[in-house]
This record gives sequence, structure tokens and C-alpha cells, in this order.
Amino acid sequence: MSSRPIGVLDSGVGGISVLKHIHALLPHENLMYVADSKYAPYGNKTPEEITARCMTIADFLIAQNVKALVVACNTATAAAIDAMRETYDLPGLNFPIIGMEPAVKPAAEASKNGIIGVLATVGTLKSAQFAALLESYGRNVKVVTQACVGLVECIERGELDTPETKALIRQYTAPLLAEGADTIVLGCTHYPFVKDAIREIVGEEISLIDTGAAVAKQLKRQLEEKGLLSTSRQKAEVHFWTNSEAENAEQVTEKLWGKHVEEHRL
Ligand code: DGL
Repeated sequence: MSSRPIGVLDSGVGGISVLKHIHALLPHENLMYVADSKYAPYGNKTPEEITARCMTIADFLIAQNVKALVVACNTATAAAIDAMRETYDLPGLNFPIIGMEPAVKPAAEASKNGIIGVLATVGTLKSAQFAALLESYGRNVKVVTQACVGLVECIERGELDTPETKALIRQYTAPLLAEGADTIVLGCTHYPFVKDAIREIVGEEISLIDTGAAVAKQLKRQLEEKGLLSTSRQKAEVHFWTNSEAENAEQVTEKLWGKHVEEHRL
């Protein structure tokens, strides 16, 4: 029972940044990662389109007998997590579904000057969930938001520090720096993969915050509470699935995961 895998999904390769935290914290948990890269980016899709994609992937992962789902995507969480919980996390089913949201709360706590910047997708920034997050945790700080159109596509291609990627980062961080933000939230799971490039552009003084580690901890807590933690002491298996049409999809996954992978095609 407890050796069943955990399903992790994202619009593409971004959720691998979360998968790394999960694998580090729970090294005996078998993991199945689905990159919906054919339909990336989600950031400019309607909530209905995103929900339909998430349901399709969730159905696939549930058919693989996963014991829990992690929506490793801020945009998908904002659009689809309520519908997913209504559909799959039925009373008595004991099926945790973990989502994620931009780290506004920790950033507001960490900021020294009370000005925080949030980099995220259009979909996340437009969502009711994000408005509620600002209402709850953004009241005592100034929050400067910036949608990063085109950045997810660069990361999907594995271009983490090309001139084009850096130009986009420069363009999108400039307004945050101009407003004096001392803390920047990486509000999309793709962005931790360009953290070095962001660091190079914004300098050493700015704090960069993402939620990957917090999501892994939340997953562990939920598995513990529901008695679903793996009791195995064996090294876990991590399987990758993608519907990407790019020829170099497997190389990009390998580059981001940092190890050899054999990617299954959806
Ligand atoms: N990785 C996703 C997120 O955390 C979304 C990227 C996209 O497909 O637009 O928001």
C-alpha cells in the first residue's frame, strides 16, 4: 500500500524543481512525474482549459495507482485544485492532493523594507486565489507583481542562461528593483531553474524565495497523518512522463533533474 508512487504534475518541466525537494526529503517514496509540455505554458490559458488538462493528467496518474498527487504548478493550483479535490479527494478516500501558491507570506515576513516583488504567470496573478493571498498576507507590505511572459518557454527549451532568457529576466525584474523590492518571490515552479541568472541580474542583496521545500514538507505531513508514508528502505524509483514534441525533451529533463532519465511518452 505505502509503496505506491506519488504523482507529481506540472504544465511542463518546472515541477521538477519541486520534485527535487520531494525526493531529497522523502528518498524512499516512489515518484511519477508528468510534464504536460505539449500544452505548456498554462499561464495564458483559461482556468477551464487548465482544469481540463489537470483532470486528464490526474486520471492518468490515478490509473498508475498513485497514493497522492502534488500539483507542482502555481498556475494549475490556482485554476484547478478546488475541482481536483472535489473530484478525487472524496471523504473516506484518504487521497491527499497538495497544491502550491506563491510565497507571499514568507516573503512578507522576510522583507526588511516591506517591499516585495512577485514573479509569476499571468494566470496566477489574475486568479482569485492570488487576490486572496494578497488580502491575507500582503496587507502590511507593498507587493509589486510582474508577469513573466515567455520565460517558461525558454526554460522548457532548457535555455537557462542564454542571452534571450537573461534579457527577459532583466526586463521583468527591473520594475521590482525600481520599486525597491528587497525580496522577490519566484511564483512559478519553472523559475528556480533560472535562479542563478536571476541572482546575477538582481545582485546578492535581494532574497529570492520559492515554495518547493515547503511543499515537500507539507506532503510529508499529509502522508504521515494519513498513514501513507512508505516503510520501504529501498532507493525510490522516479519515473518521468512527457507529451513534449521537442526532440531534446529527454535531454532537458536530464539537465534539470541532474541525472540520467529514461522518459516515457504520454
Ligand atoms: N510551472 C507553472 C507554475 O508554477 C506554470 C508555467 C506555465 O505553464 O505557464 O505556475
